Amino acid sequence: METKKHSSHANEPKRSFTVRQMEIDDLAEVYKLGEMSFKPDLWPMLYRSWDEYEVTTLFNTDGDYCLVAENDDETGDRIVGFVLGTVISKPGSAWSYGYIIWLCAHPGWQREGVASDLVDSLVEIMVEEDGIRIMMADTDPENQRAVRFFQKKGFTDEKPHLYLSTNLEHNDHYKELIIASREAALDAEYLKRIRKLAEDRSSSNLAKNKKKKATNSPQARRAPTKKKVAKKRDK
Ligand SMILES: CC(C)(COP(=O)(O)OP(=O)(O)OC[C@H]1O[C@@H](n2cnc3c(N)ncnc32)[C@H](O)[C@@H]1OP(=O)(O)O)[C@@H](O)C(=O)NCCC(=O)NCCS
Repeated sequence: METKKHSSHANEPKRSFTVRQMEIDDLAEVYKLGEMSFKPDLWPMLYRSWDEYEVTTLFNTDGDYCLVAENDDETGDRIVGFVLGTVISKPGSAWSYGYIIWLCAHPGWQREGVASDLVDSLVEIMVEEDGIRIMMADTDPENQRAVRFFQKKGFTDEKPHLYLSTNLEHNDHYKELIIASREAALDAEYLKRIRKLAEDRSSSNLAKNKKKKATNSPQARRAPTKKKVAKKRDK
């Protein structure tokens, strides 16, 4: 893709960034930026589903749709935003959908057009390379920043979506599974300890046997020890 330069608003200190394809060296920083932004107290669903595998998997499967915004200044944070997307195609259907899975602007770089430029570049790629006509994005309804952002970008066709979760430990349908898996883990730990004990025993027995063999060998029996020799002389 063509990299794009952007300058922040005229009334703010001049900062610029470049939107480009994500590279392997960016993975750790992208993961950390997401970890810092998708907070458990604010948006538990975002927090729960964000992990290293999310970044590496999307980089492998949808590398063309993984973009970062890089700070043009060499001081300060290098990666100041990212967008990770995918294209959903249905077999037998002429339509493909572009989907914004993750979007993030560094907390120190918000309201400077980072996310806006990232989304513009992603949409451009999807339209030009995949003929996308419909873009989708989702977020927690409480996440007003993101809701406002998407609305500003013209994502106004809203469909309510409910996230449901359950703690399996307190769920009558599934709590037996948790108990069984915990017991299995305990059994495995117990077996591991027993195996270790048996191993320790057998290696100490082996050492004892070796010693025994050495002292019972014909040479050992023939050659008196220094102590015995000394005693003989005393006599
Ligand atoms: C939502 C988010 C991506 C926006 O990034 P950003 O780079 O600050 O957004 P932009 O500067 O491109 O904003 C473009 C427009 O969106 C709207 N907007 C963005 N942040 C807003 C906010 N905090 N309050 C109100 N409107 C906001 C504004 O209309 C803004 O235009 P303006 O600055 O000219 O008024 C950013 O706040 C973020 O990373 N949040 C945490 C992660 C997250 O929630 N991701 C989305 C779900 S995966």
